[in-house]
Amino acid sequence: MTRRYSSRKRILVTGGAGFLGSHLCDRLIADGHEVLCVDNFFTGDKSNIEHLAGEPRFELLRHDITFPLFVEVDEIYNLACPASPIHYQHDPVQTTKTSVHGSINMLGLAKRLKSKILQASTSEVYGDPAVHPQTEGYWGHVNPIGPRSCYDEGKRCAETLFFDYHRQHGLEIKVARIFNTYGPRMHPADGRVVSNFIVQALKGEPITLYGDGKQSRSFCYVDDLIDGLVRMMDSAAEVTGPINLGNPQEFSMAELAGQILAATGSKSKLTHAPLPEDDPRQRQPDIGKARQLLGWEPKVPLAEGIERTIAYFRGLASA
Ligand SMILES: NC(=O)c1ccc[n+]([C@@H]2O[C@H](COP(=O)([O-])OP(=O)(O)OC[C@H]3O[C@@H](n4cnc5c(N)ncnc54)[C@H](O)[C@@H]3O)[C@@H](O)[C@H]2O)c1
Repeated sequence: MTRRYSSRKRILVTGGAGFLGSHLCDRLIADGHEVLCVDNFFTGDKSNIEHLAGEPRFELLRHDITFPLFVEVDEIYNLACPASPIHYQHDPVQTTKTSVHGSINMLGLAKRLKSKILQASTSEVYGDPAVHPQTEGYWGHVNPIGPRSCYDEGKRCAETLFFDYHRQHGLEIKVARIFNTYGPRMHPADGRVVSNFIVQALKGEPITLYGDGKQSRSFCYVDDLIDGLVRMMDSAAEVTGPINLGNPQEFSMAELAGQILAATGSKSKLTHAPLPEDDPRQRQPDIGKARQLLGWEPKVPLAEGIERTIAYFRGLASA
């Protein structure tokens, strides 16, 4: 679809070569917009966006958002930040800088351009939650000095910055709190549970369950999540968020492993490893606000999303 010039927007996606960012670039191009994808390729990969290389409305810029950026755009989606514990703990100071300095730089850009800006925040702002399911009104239970704090507290500080730019400078902001999302283009070695289990199952390696495997998570398929982000960006100015985006259906890690074993037909055995420090026991979004304000809810069932994700990882293995 190519939009008429009047309705076509020039949209910046930071972290656009990553898992979620690349799907967002696809969606915005399909919607007829121009996309400027900015990435420093820390966890992103050119292969995630190489299919867009011949597209005249797509542009790629290698840049680290902890440094200022001067470009002209109508909207900004700020997704740049390593999202898996293995990656964000690799260089924790850079992780905090990406959330804090990166947000300051992108908010400064939005202020200069008077453009809307959306922050990809996270359910990790709730920490190991004492309230279940988590509503946006819950302030969280977060360790400020642990190994996960660079990510959790960095994202919390980014939310603070977004709301202060909104109150102090009248900036139009959108803060989306994203819960576990999975799908094609997840990094195969980033230790996130869905990709981990699928890769282990496809290789016939033992599937690692942390703790007793009873801790629960909810998993949102990437297409649903991207639709939520776009709806949020397009929502009325007074809808600032934070809004939870995720799939409220809850599964234990043991159930997830069982589904993946069945779908891959793998003979992998289950093994147990100690629970990582500060690993939340339960995580489930309350998506009442997203339903009410965005008319959004996830549509893709876990079994279907897992099939599509397995197909992607099979393709990688045979490439
Ligand atoms: N995938 C999820 O389940 C999930 C859940 C909650 C929040 N999020 C948030 O969504 C966003 C995208 O996550 P993802 O899963 O696609 O992760 P990802 O690691 O695949 O993508 C992050 C992208 O940001 C880039 N990046 C990192 N630091 C940068 C910097 N300083 N400058 C420029 N680019 C930089 C990386 O190279 C990568 O392409 C992140 O902000 C993450 O915190 C994701």
